[in-house]
Amino acid sequence: MRKTIKINELKAGGTVDDLFAVRLKKSIGPYKGGTTFHLWVSDPGGDISLKYWGDKDNVAIQKIWDGISKGSVLRVKGRVNEYNGSLELHVNPTSGDSITVLDEGDFDIRDFVASTPMDIEQMKGHLFSVIRKIDDPWLKEALSYFFADEEFVRNFCECPASITHHANWLGGLLEHTLRVVKLCESYCQIYPDLDRNLLLTGAIFHDIGKLRDYKVTSIIGSTDEGRLIGHLVIGAEMVHDACRFIEGFPSELSMKLQHLVLSSHGTTEFGSPKVPMFPEAVALSLADLTDTRIEDMIMVKSNPNTEEDWAQNKSVGSVYLR
Ligand SMILES: [Fe+2]
Ligand SMILES: [Fe+2]
Repeated sequence: MRKTIKINELKAGGTVDDLFAVRLKKSIGPYKGGTTFHLWVSDPGGDISLKYWGDKDNVAIQKIWDGISKGSVLRVKGRVNEYNGSLELHVNPTSGDSITVLDEGDFDIRDFVASTPMDIEQMKGHLFSVIRKIDDPWLKEALSYFFADEEFVRNFCECPASITHHANWLGGLLEHTLRVVKLCESYCQIYPDLDRNLLLTGAIFHDIGKLRDYKVTSIIGSTDEGRLIGHLVIGAEMVHDACRFIEGFPSELSMKLQHLVLSSHGTTEFGSPKVPMFPEAVALSLADLTDTRIEDMIMVKSNPNTEEDWAQNKSVGSVYLR
């Protein structure tokens, strides 16, 4: 079965018979009509709360609940209701609604995880042309430690840039990295004192930790390593391992590369264990912030979930939609 409608296209008051991926199992418990449970489900159009209003057969409802896990794909027959200004899916089996867990092979993964709208091969070609222009021999070697490895390149080109924010689709990391690289190239033109080789290598490396931070199934999720350690520290460790592998690699340059990765979120508040401490690190963190802020706002504007002139978003605040 293929999906026919995305979450951002749902309208209050309508019925739905479609497929959704389980992002979060919230809770199960009693209510006056019997047993209810609550899930968050998603698709490339966003995510939505799903409430199952079961009858008094709590054993049967518990069985449905136990059969659902994070990442399960469900066929949901229900209604779209508005509650507290947000849309919700309501499944009421006494009115003929139902939830069925699909087996792998009964759905198409492309219905759940979106792909970049850009041409991956073209972006890859662009990234490699930047890598070829790096003329510091140590940085060249550090780059080829990763980018001469076909499996690394394949994973890098498929990795999303985030779970729910900017470029949360396959190929998103490549897209985001290239935009950060381009911003850094323009900084180098405006500020010729910046070390171009160092800054561009840092830009290419700054989010490689996301390869171990994210796991893509029917949803984009975090690995345990990603949750416990985070992509900046994972990325700095990957860079450290690469520099140690290259015989004679200058330890100061290795520290600078690790610092570029660790400080790329700019402030401790945004998850950087170190704030930028040299000009290239400031430039990289500002390029990263520029891209994430602009892309997050574009994402809210293109997917407003409201017909009002303003949208409110947890991470970017108020967005003027006109
Ligand atoms: Fe990052
Ligand atoms: Fe980034």
